Amino acid sequence: MKTLDNLLDDLAQYVTTPDDASWSLPRDAYLSPDLHDLEVREIFEKSWLCVGREEYIAKPGDYFTIDLMDEPVVIVHGTDGVIRALNSACRHRYMPVVAGKGNAKRFVCPYHTWTYATDGRLIGAPHMEGSKVFDKAACSLPQYRLESWQGFLFVNLDDDAAPLQVTMASMDKAATNYRVHEQTEVFHYEMTWNGNWKLSAENSMEYYHHIGLHSGTVGVQMPAKGAYFPDSTQADDTFTHSRCRVGDEFLGGADHPLNPRGDLTGLTQEELETGYLVYVFPAFTMAMRAGTNNWLAFRPDGPEKTTVLGGYLMWRDLVEEDPEVTAARAELIEKVNTEDALATTELARVMRSRKAGRGPLAPFEKTIAQFYKYLGRTLAGDRITTRQAAE
Ligand code: FES
Ligand SMILES: [Fe+2]
Repeated sequence: MKTLDNLLDDLAQYVTTPDDASWSLPRDAYLSPDLHDLEVREIFEKSWLCVGREEYIAKPGDYFTIDLMDEPVVIVHGTDGVIRALNSACRHRYMPVVAGKGNAKRFVCPYHTWTYATDGRLIGAPHMEGSKVFDKAACSLPQYRLESWQGFLFVNLDDDAAPLQVTMASMDKAATNYRVHEQTEVFHYEMTWNGNWKLSAENSMEYYHHIGLHSGTVGVQMPAKGAYFPDSTQADDTFTHSRCRVGDEFLGGADHPLNPRGDLTGLTQEELETGYLVYVFPAFTMAMRAGTNNWLAFRPDGPEKTTVLGGYLMWRDLVEEDPEVTAARAELIEKVNTEDALATTELARVMRSRKAGRGPLAPFEKTIAQFYKYLGRTLAGDRITTRQAAE
């Protein structure tokens, strides 16, 4: 296996390679435990990670728990109305004070019943009167940074990270007509795919695979040959994006389950006639048509395992008006996601082959070339400077 040093040299080279001359990553980039550790440290422990939607905790007291890069986190809609991300390790002797999901007025630790309010304050600790060091006010559950974007909840494990808006601003501008804030989730999924997170990420940012993997599903309506890169709003260091023209025979009617419906005010002709993929670094993606949104978020759970969160959103008034369309879309998207899972698990299955080698990216995969540039900048930025200085 390549050393971390070799892999970082490879990643640094992507930064100065033109997008149309880019190769896929060396296969060890998907297998190396050392690169995985570095990605966790430099990317996932410092970036805004999508953990779900506000709908999951709509009422005061609603909560769900997650393991976020080995951090035990409870996302809770406080009885005071504020949504927080709290560390769930008890301030007595570390027992998780809550598990799973549900609704609670307070969290009672199952070990010795210390009790916390939903804002993290310790409000009860039995038989602690004789302790000379116990200070209730100093034993709150610590908080993580949590911010919302258009109904999506993001957590950042880095207390010093820049606000979420710095990451989302450019994409937000590019996607503004899609009115994501008016959407609600009609179904949700959470899965583990056996394979490196970058395989899942790459698959979710290109339309090229509609020609094969989705040839019987979304590839029919949005064939790969329709893929192109919007130049009206440039991608930048925070995101990359791609569009795909809907086949002529599917334009103009509302009969196909993926065609736009509802209030289309404000959408341009281009937006009505294309699918739009946006990928926000490091690991959040939305595949949109007017009114609908198939989103995914990834995080590594080891070098060769990926936690995949996702869901399907539609404009609220569409869901209320037309349950049949909702059901038809849900059925189609479920098939598509099952197909997409193969793009991680099947690749991962053969990747250890001694003969497996990388290949050239297709021009339709410019987004992937830009993703590699992001990896190069983030993980091997110091080597780019060194090299340029040496030249
Ligand atoms: S560990 Fe929670 S009360 Fe003891
Ligand atoms: Fe796909």
